[in-house]
Amino acid sequence: MTDLIATAKAHTNIALVKYWGKRDETLILPWTDSLSLTLNEFYTTTKVTFSETLEHDNFYIDRILVDQKNNQKLTNFMNVAREKIGLTYFANVESFNCVPISAGLASSSSAFAALAGAIYEASGVDYTLNDVSKLARRGSGSATRSVFGGLAEWKKGSTDDDSYAQPIQETVDFGIEMIAILLDTTKKKVSSRLGMQTTVDTSPFFNEWVKVVEKDMQIMHQAIEKKDINLIGEIAESNAMRMHSLTLSASPSFTYFNADSLLAMQEVEKLRTNGVKCFYTMDAGPNVKVIYDRKNRETILQELSKVFGRDRLVVSQPGPGIEFIK
Ligand code: PMV
Repeated sequence: MTDLIATAKAHTNIALVKYWGKRDETLILPWTDSLSLTLNEFYTTTKVTFSETLEHDNFYIDRILVDQKNNQKLTNFMNVAREKIGLTYFANVESFNCVPISAGLASSSSAFAALAGAIYEASGVDYTLNDVSKLARRGSGSATRSVFGGLAEWKKGSTDDDSYAQPIQETVDFGIEMIAILLDTTKKKVSSRLGMQTTVDTSPFFNEWVKVVEKDMQIMHQAIEKKDINLIGEIAESNAMRMHSLTLSASPSFTYFNADSLLAMQEVEKLRTNGVKCFYTMDAGPNVKVIYDRKNRETILQELSKVFGRDRLVVSQPGPGIEFIK
């Protein structure tokens, strides 16, 4: 049989209501729903070639062969995929990340969404984007949402089959934007996987977090409906800080903040005090993302450039969902 080949491109997303905590670590089923904005600036393009002649999977990320340790995680993912698509062939996987040099920004969300998309497209089976979203989830929870563009929501579900994302607004018709402040581009010290599990197991506030997210999801939906960027930003900021308070209350306690993260947050607060509405969010790393209405872009860029330098600021608009490249 001839090789089965497909290439898919998916963009990174940043959660406005965070996913933090799994109740099933193998299936990657979360404790809560979550909601995100897909960004146009950061993406991964992945080509999958299933071939009868291969004796194992090979993974190349940015042209470099993946080492043994990470290879295992990816092979496990391919085994899950093979079971879902009913194929026994091994594959060559070539992945390219278009993320500003080592930005340390949620590359796993675009990576697993692109990989899942390319796998389904290459397989020749009938599939839906929900199937892609479910498979992407098995690689990285946040990848579930990167299958869709604009604003997307991951419904937690309770089984492998009903935990996937759906679009809220694929083409965002209001001026929400994000600036990523690239503060530290080295690999994160505590992986999101380990960080989540430590907080689920040890933070006395984890049950409260589950309730917080439920409320935040409701208000976030209303804010999106009203296209109220300031309310979206307010909820996103407080949701992110509540997520990060879980890390501080875990045993052992840990944090993703560094000194520059705190500085960035203060700068955003300063802008706000001066009447420029903008808000911050952070994920499992020290880089800060600023949420604002595009009409404030130049003022915010000007002020943040004074502190961090213009070359550390990346402006992103809402990005598209998964695309297949012929
Ligand atoms: O997809 P993971 O396992 O890297 O976890 C992502 C966790 C956060 O980025 C902090 C939140 C989120 O919802 O994306």
